[in-house]
Amino acid sequence: MASLKLLLTLALALAPHINSVEGISCFSCTGSCASQKPQKCPDGETCISVKTIVNKNGVVNFESYKGCAGTSLCPSPGPKNFSINFGTESVLGRAECCDENNCNGAEASSPEIPGPGSLQCFRCDPLTNNCNTSLNCSVLETGCFQSTLTPSDSMVSGPAHGCSSVNLCSALGPS
Ligand SMILES: *[C@@H]1O[C@H](CO)[C@@H](O)[C@H](O)[C@H]1NC(C)=O
Ligand SMILES: *[C@@H]1O[C@H](CO)[C@@H](O)[C@H](O)[C@H]1NC(C)=O
Ligand SMILES: *[C@@H]1O[C@H](CO)[C@@H](O)[C@H](O)[C@H]1NC(C)=O
Repeated sequence: MASLKLLLTLALALAPHINSVEGISCFSCTGSCASQKPQKCPDGETCISVKTIVNKNGVVNFESYKGCAGTSLCPSPGPKNFSINFGTESVLGRAECCDENNCNGAEASSPEIPGPGSLQCFRCDPLTNNCNTSLNCSVLETGCFQSTLTPSDSMVSGPAHGCSSVNLCSALGPS
């Protein structure tokens, strides 16, 4: 199935970049974040430190990300929660946004599992690519999304529909 790590990286990176020398510097790392190095951000971006819980077919992993983020994920300094669920895979994240040089050195705290919400979206069956199975969203997931993803282990792209927090929807843009 699709690589949500890739998706998250895209969500964090896809915000419009304006070339400028005015940007602040933020620590940058992915995965375990055992080592981090400063990175110059495009103007208008702030620093982000993210802790995610990635659930892939029931296998759960914690992953971290630090770097620059646009206004869709970091509209203001402070903690932000986000979540995306495809059915077979989900990512729950807790982000700390801050707007001073190298302010994202600390690890974000782990996200809390949100309770069930009232929204239902459709999910896709990865074997048949039919997207007509209902998926219950969490309270954090206030939007449905439809996208096409290329799994990291395959050349064939397939539909990916599911529940998403609105901040992640706007970070991913229209699709
Ligand atoms: C985000 O999660 C934290 C705990 O992880 C919680 O205290 C806070 O209320 C949540 N914020 C929103 C907007 O859901
Ligand atoms: C989903 O669509 C497929 C193909 O159109 C159909 O065979 C299947 O019965 C549908 N399932 C549901 C739950 O509607
Ligand atoms: C999804 O929500 C519906 C309505 O609240 C409920 O009847 C159903 O059991 C839920 N399904 C799952 C898999 O939790």
